[in-house]
Amino acid sequence: MAPPKEKHDHKTLKFPPSFLWGAATSAYQVEGNNVNADWWDWEQKNQPPSLRSGIACDQYNKYEQDFALIKQLNHNAHRLSIEWSRIEPREGEFNNSEIEHYLKVLKSLKELKIKVMLTLWHFTLPKWVSNIGGWENRKTINFFERFVKRVTREIAPYVDFWITINEPGVYIYQTYIRKEWPGSKGSSLGQIKTALNLASAHKKVYRYLHQTYPDKPIGMAQNVQSFQTYHKHSLVEQISVVFADFVANHLFYFLTRGTHDFLGINYYFHVRFQNSQRILPEIEDASQGYRDISDLGWEIYPEGLFDVLTDLSDGIPIYITECGIASTNDDRRNRFLITYLHEVYRAIKSGVDVRGFFYWSLVDNFEWSKGFQPRFGLVEVDYATLERRIRPSALVYTDIIAHNGIPHSLLRFIGHTVQAAEVLEKRLKEELRKKRHRPNHK
Ligand code: FCB
Repeated sequence: MAPPKEKHDHKTLKFPPSFLWGAATSAYQVEGNNVNADWWDWEQKNQPPSLRSGIACDQYNKYEQDFALIKQLNHNAHRLSIEWSRIEPREGEFNNSEIEHYLKVLKSLKELKIKVMLTLWHFTLPKWVSNIGGWENRKTINFFERFVKRVTREIAPYVDFWITINEPGVYIYQTYIRKEWPGSKGSSLGQIKTALNLASAHKKVYRYLHQTYPDKPIGMAQNVQSFQTYHKHSLVEQISVVFADFVANHLFYFLTRGTHDFLGINYYFHVRFQNSQRILPEIEDASQGYRDISDLGWEIYPEGLFDVLTDLSDGIPIYITECGIASTNDDRRNRFLITYLHEVYRAIKSGVDVRGFFYWSLVDNFEWSKGFQPRFGLVEVDYATLERRIRPSALVYTDIIAHNGIPHSLLRFIGHTVQAAEVLEKRLKEELRKKRHRPNHK
């Protein structure tokens, strides 16, 4: 089937030709019943029933239905992951029927002419790996490499891009610092070992894949954050920004330099450092700061996406491998898509080589320790019936895809709010002026 003709609209903010437009998911968050993963037992022990993944979206059985939606929504790419604990439930025992399953999954995307970006590790470990200490144990590097070699041999023909590992920094932060995820051990040495082992695993797997499948680009998905000071003139806040930017955004790339065919960027966070009574500044609580926030309390700050893109650009192609909003108010998702993509457009215009955007997420799903409450999906999932319902914002995204850019009709959406802000500002100024001239009655 020929691809749908691009809509002509000379006021569209055009993206580069062959830009990838898609959405992302990860196996554990959508498949359901991943009983061999470390998360599964941890949930039974530590989480109330409402926060357990259970059958999740049952995408393990409903993938064809979900992929039909992708096609209907006109996406030309999709990011998904495979679940190590299904494929190798016990050390060295590979389950062929699970490999067969993923072959069917990937083939069905290919039949729909969807470009496939496949993540090889997205946060969950087989129980037997977690029992030997997970990523703290150097052996895990070789186990992971063996798993990758075994599975890619079969699935490679149906994959266009590889992501080795997802968000090493977030994994370490949630496991060791927040201690909200399985495997929480809390030792600083463990943290360092985990970081170094994840970096080694990426490099090893990169070298293997690069040699074996030279035409399939390889990257890593990194959670990249935009940092800012609360007060412009606070030196202590400035130092915090420089330090946090290095640790969160650059350290891992530095440890793995030379092993990225592209940068995979997941963008969700804008962080402001605020000088406090303590020695170190604190992170501003966006909800207390009257910022615009998502249902998870994460600040909505599209300009930060422009900042991180321009900051990280150094000649390597960039794919935005995740970016999305948790909201039950779909109007906010419309606005999110338009304003964030507007920043991607600005970055491209200023010379950043952005080649694709994957909205998080295709469908509502299991948001780790937060359960099912956060609603990220372009498609709503009714968890009582597992029925899927396309949200209006999914159609806004489809409109953008059809134009290969942001059409004027949608841009007005931003225009309105800019105008509204201007009107508001004028009114406030006017009120202030009047106040100043009003005689004091007190
Ligand atoms: C990212 C994760 C992804 C999802 C989104 C909301 O940090 O990679 O699995 O949970 O956040």
